[in-house]
Amino acid sequence: GKVCLAYSGGLDTSVILAWLLEEGYEVIAFLANIGQEEDFEAAEKKALAIGATKFVVVDVRKEFVENVCFPAIQANAIYENVYLLGTSLARPVIAQAQIKVAEEEGCFAVSHGCTGKGNDQVRFELSFYALKPDVVVIAPWRDPAFFNRFAGRKDLLEYAASKDIPVAQTKAKPWSTDENLAHISFEAGILEDPNTTPPKDMWKLTVDPTDAPETPEDFSIEFEKGLPTKLILDGGKKVVTDPVELFIEANSLARRNGVGRIDIVENRFIGIKSRGCYETPGLTILRTAHVDLEGLTLDREVRALRDQFVTVTYSKLLYNGMYFTPECEYVRAMIPPSQITVNGTVRARAYKGSVSVLGRFSETEKLYDETESSMDELTGFSPEDTSGFIAVQSIRIKKFGESARDAGRK
Ligand code: ARG
Ligand code: SIN
Repeated sequence: GKVCLAYSGGLDTSVILAWLLEEGYEVIAFLANIGQEEDFEAAEKKALAIGATKFVVVDVRKEFVENVCFPAIQANAIYENVYLLGTSLARPVIAQAQIKVAEEEGCFAVSHGCTGKGNDQVRFELSFYALKPDVVVIAPWRDPAFFNRFAGRKDLLEYAASKDIPVAQTKAKPWSTDENLAHISFEAGILEDPNTTPPKDMWKLTVDPTDAPETPEDFSIEFEKGLPTKLILDGGKKVVTDPVELFIEANSLARRNGVGRIDIVENRFIGIKSRGCYETPGLTILRTAHVDLEGLTLDREVRALRDQFVTVTYSKLLYNGMYFTPECEYVRAMIPPSQITVNGTVRARAYKGSVSVLGRFSETEKLYDETESSMDELTGFSPEDTSGFIAVQSIRIKKFGESARDAGRK
């Protein structure tokens, strides 16, 4: 039977490809273009040389930005207060494209090179099963026939040599990465000691903040219903509106100013802690601006409900690979109604690794009233009304204070 393998051109998936052939399968190699820096032609050549029947690249960049990254910005998605979910966001899009290819090519199975200890195996496989419930998943790194044979990198290299699989001459980096239009991740290898500071040359998508330009770079982002619709750079000389172009331009802006690096220890779904370093340039800027605009344009109670429920739940569902589930569909549907009033512009500055807001305005939303908010004006409501407000609020607080005092609790 035919198997559709998610193939990267790297050592692991090349060995997996050769091994699948050895096991008697026919292999369709699949590679998603999700904005990673990659030599697609080299990967194609290599896959076909190893023996794949066909090599299929699918460009999913537009879907990734519009269907997944933009809603994540609207929801302020974030995991454990720091991680902007770059890898998690990409998985549903890649899985969907892979299943489509598997169906078109008549494959009964799909395969991937994820390890048995990570989040990605869960994300891919739950997506596969949601999209094609009868699909067979071949996960070599969880198959004793595979992992007992290829216990270490040395075994993989020996096998590659025996099968005439070319291995890139560049020395393997002492960490593993995953890249897409939103971010790059660095994990494993020397990073496994959480107290080892990554070498300066590990970082790839952003300049070192200390080497970034001495001159701050100012820009504006316009939002409609919480979606970035215009990025204005260079004092108005450059204006970008197409979602993918806007995302890419936000990336370059952040990259040259060193914005978007984090170094964290996170909790994986399967229950182990993992140290990871991430560069998330454009998304960091877009999310920061979006959070700021909500301060001006979003009702307090809608915001509180959304923060407690949508942001937290949606982020966790994304992280845990639950994108194609009924609960995630339900939570995703709650994003747009929360964003109806999030219309306006944020002016901001990127400078040596940081992004700071310089101001914001909205032509349409009137929740913020300068006169009402002013400390120098007595308009809007009368000061006596506030005395009543405090008196009523204090009823139960006084009771609490009395009991505490009588019981000697304070
Ligand atoms: N820890 C991050 C996450 O779970 C990044 C995973 C990177 N994946 C990879 N195959 N290198 O989202
Ligand atoms: C992997 O285990 O394949 C990469 C890391 C992860 O999925 O969390």
